[in-house]
Amino acid sequence: MTHERIAATFDEWARNGHAEGMEAGHGDVVRQVIGRMRIQAGMQMLDLGCGNGWATRLLGPAAPGAGAVGIDASPQMVARAEELHDWTSRARYEVGTFEALDFPADKFDKVFSMEALYYALDLDQALREALRVLKPGGTADVLIDRFQESPHTESWARTVGVEMAWLAESEWRDRFRAAGFSPVTTERVLDSRGPGDEARFEPDVHCPDWQTRVELHAAGTLWIHAEKPE
Ligand SMILES: C[S@@+](CC[C@H](N)C(=O)[O-])C[C@H]1O[C@@H](n2cnc3c(N)ncnc32)[C@H](O)[C@@H]1O
Repeated sequence: MTHERIAATFDEWARNGHAEGMEAGHGDVVRQVIGRMRIQAGMQMLDLGCGNGWATRLLGPAAPGAGAVGIDASPQMVARAEELHDWTSRARYEVGTFEALDFPADKFDKVFSMEALYYALDLDQALREALRVLKPGGTADVLIDRFQESPHTESWARTVGVEMAWLAESEWRDRFRAAGFSPVTTERVLDSRGPGDEARFEPDVHCPDWQTRVELHAAGTLWIHAEKPE
């Protein structure tokens, strides 16, 4: 697996409209978490794997004078983020990779990421980079739907066609701690809208039947909250 392969996969998502489905599916959970991140005036944030930038545009205006930069390996995702940009969000977008962040040390107050970090080619290097660019006392808030306690997500690497980390909740905590974060906590966040409406359920490769949909909802999104020691 290479960054070029990841970029090609997600360039296609950007072209075929798949990127826009991410906000519909994950907007509720992301808004819950952003509401609990204690974003304060003037804070600068980094969104790892920003896709079309919808969450970056929520982070920017979360407090007076706050701002967010999203990075993504897919040039077409970054182009889509720029097309969708509304110029009031204090957000911007750059092409870049998790494993070699093009930012100085101690720059950001917060690192955020939604449904992206398990694609890292080198997860430990990605976590070390996230730690490096955070200010001492800064926090990482990483959200992922693919983890071992949500067993229906195991097949996603095959359906998407790229390699993905498949870790248990405790292993995610261990990997963040090994990178130097402390303390590290996890919790599950459930979509407050519930699993949806069975009468309107439409199967897809990720979710072939209603029972799977119900169980995916019940497993929720894993929120990893980790601090860079002072
Ligand atoms: C499933 S999408 C999620 C996008 C966005 N966070 C959202 O919620 O809509 C994962 C994104 O991570 C990016 N990505 C995957 N591996 C990456 C890496 N190693 N470095 C930078 N971006 C990466 C992909 O290009 C893709 O846009």
